Formats: sequence, structure tokens, C-alpha cells
Amino acid sequence: MTHIQHRGIDHTKLDAMIARAIGDLSAGYGGVMVSIGNRLGLYKAMAGAGPLSSRELATRTGCGERYVREWLGSQVAGGYVTYHAISDTYELSPEQTLVLADENSPFFIPNAWAVPASMWSDEDKAVEAFRTGQGIAWGDHDGRLFCGVAAFYRNAYKASLVAEWLPALEGVVQRLDAGARVADVGCGHGHSTVLMAQAFPASTFVGFDVHEESVAEARRIADEAGLSDRVTFKTARAEDFPGEEYDLICFFDCLHDMGDPAAAVAHAARAIAPDGTVMLVEPFANDRVEDNISPVGRIYYAASTTICCAHAISEGGHTVLGAQAGQARLAELFRKGGFTRFRRAMATPFNLILEAKL
Ligand SMILES: C[S@@+](CC[C@H](N)C(=O)[O-])C[C@H]1O[C@@H](n2cnc3c(N)ncnc32)[C@H](O)[C@@H]1O
Repeated sequence: MTHIQHRGIDHTKLDAMIARAIGDLSAGYGGVMVSIGNRLGLYKAMAGAGPLSSRELATRTGCGERYVREWLGSQVAGGYVTYHAISDTYELSPEQTLVLADENSPFFIPNAWAVPASMWSDEDKAVEAFRTGQGIAWGDHDGRLFCGVAAFYRNAYKASLVAEWLPALEGVVQRLDAGARVADVGCGHGHSTVLMAQAFPASTFVGFDVHEESVAEARRIADEAGLSDRVTFKTARAEDFPGEEYDLICFFDCLHDMGDPAAAVAHAARAIAPDGTVMLVEPFANDRVEDNISPVGRIYYAASTTICCAHAISEGGHTVLGAQAGQARLAELFRKGGFTRFRRAMATPFNLILEAKL
């Protein structure tokens, strides 16, 4: 075993590093509690209910009181639930409710914990991939990944896609209102496709993805929304999906996952109408590592390591962009792929919304 020499330790920096690592460890334990609270409806039962005792919450949710009481202790310790010591009751504030209980809130977090849960479950695969340099295909991950990613982005899409992102693109809303042909490439569970179809009844939509299970789930969601006459989903690759003269081609959080993003962009250039638009939605990133030092950057680099890069490598890995590619690298890809115009339409803390035209 290598013996590491410790010299020049600055104890103030050491204390800060320990505090940081313990805070992170605490968050990891807390994530399991958040997921359990979400699955059992504990947060929902507390939403708007005012102060509740552990027994009242246990009764409302049909759970064992001793478990619920200990779970509540973990929530209070983490600042996720407010405790009233005098009455020994627990309450969810309106702000805690928005983040933890309301699935329709753009700030709803619990489902996002499904992604690190899948990453832990697939840790052995990741270790092996590091050692061999081989890839891991999207579909080979723990199933919580697909629902976690879909749920994580769905609320942002719901809040912003139709209201803000599409209007930020040149003339796209007018075309969609008039009746446009839209391809949603790498559509996953198709939440983006369905949201656009609901907002623009004169347009037709087709979602493409290589992952058959996701395509089947996207079909189910579109059927349930009563949209199957105008929304179809097909198993196809971004590099050669069928159809041409699309008015709008979208890539939501997927271009950087592809093994040959340059081929996907070149195919989009062939499949788009001459005055059509590519909407590229990518995880928010600045162009340089030193400018991505933030909690969001940390989430994305981590997911990128074992999920995005791993999938791109599994597809041949011509160019492994990673989830923190940044606008400059993406612009270069589109320029080489035959697009003459490329600009940032807008940005949010989680996403870059980019527009490309021939
Ligand atoms: C992170 S998920 C995003 C899914 C969806 N667009 C969303 O925003 O929720 C990336 C998706 O890209 C798909 N994908 C990866 N490589 C692909 C390729 N070469 N062609 C088409 N889809 C691909 C994966 O199967 C996966 O569903």
C-alpha cells in the first residue's frame, strides 16, 4: 500500500474540506429519505395540512408510525420540514411544498434523485468501463435513469418550452401555429414532443430515439394524451432518421450523448427544410472547466462521466462531447455540419437553448 506523506497542511483549509465532504455525505443520505418520502406520499400528505404529529402523518399515509417519526427527524435535521417543539408536530412550509410535494412545480426535486440512484446501482459497470475504456449504452443502465432524466427535465419543459424557449427562436411559433412538420430527435419518453403537440394543434410531430423501451413509453404517453393522430414515435438513429423538409428539428439534452454528433448534425442539415430551424437544448455549460465550478456543473460532469460519455463511447465515440461541451464547441460542430447561422436564443441555470439555421 502506498504511504502518503502529509506536509504543509493548512488546518483552516482542512476544516473547510472536511465540512464540505460531510455536507455532501449528509446530502447523499438525505437523498434516500427524499426518494422514500416521495414514493410513500409523505410530502404530499403534509402539503397544506398544517402542523401534523408523526401519528397523524402515519395514519394519513398508511405507514408505520415509528418509521415515519424517524424519517421526520431526518427531514427536520436537513431543513426539509419545520418542527414545532412545543406541540411535537411537523409542518411543510409553502416553499418546501413547491420543492418537495408538488409534482407540477418547476422546482420539484424528488424524482431527480432517481438518477444518482441509478448511478450507484451501475457503479460496477462504470468502474469496469474506466478500466477497459469501453462504453455503456443508455439502455444498459438501471431503469431508474430513464424515468429520473425524463422527470427531471419534464417540469422545466412544462414551465418553459412553449412559454419561453420556442418564442425565443426566430419565426418558429408562427410556423407551428400555421402547421409545421417537427422532428424531436433523441426524444426519450417524449415529454417535449407531447408538450409541443398540445400547444400547436395544426402541426405534426415525430419523435426518434435509439432506445426501444423509451420509444414505447413515449407512445404510451402520447396515446394517453389523445395525440396519436398527430404524434408518432419511431426507433431510429439521429444519424439517419427518416423524413425530410422538417420545419423544426429538435435535440433535447441528447446531442452530447451521441457517438457521432457531427453525423447527427450533418443529417439534420439534410433533413431540414431550407428555411427550417434546429433547436438544440443542451445542459448549461460555459466553455471552460474553470468556468463550470458550480453545483450544476458538478451534477452534469458526474452524470456525463458514467452516462453521457459512456453512451457516446458505446456508439463508437468519434467525438465524445460530454454534457459540459459548451456553446463554442457546439457552434463549431454546426458550422462544419453545413449550418451558417448559430446563436444562443436563451439560457437558464440548467439549459442552453441554441438555434441553428442553414
Ligand atoms: C438524456 S436522454 C434525453 C431524452 C429526452 N430528449 C429528454 O429531454 O428527456 C438522451 C436520449 O438520447 C438518446 N440517444 C442517444 N444516442 C442516440 C442516437 N445516436 N440517436 C438517437 N437517439 C439517441 C438516448 O436513447 C436517450 O433517450
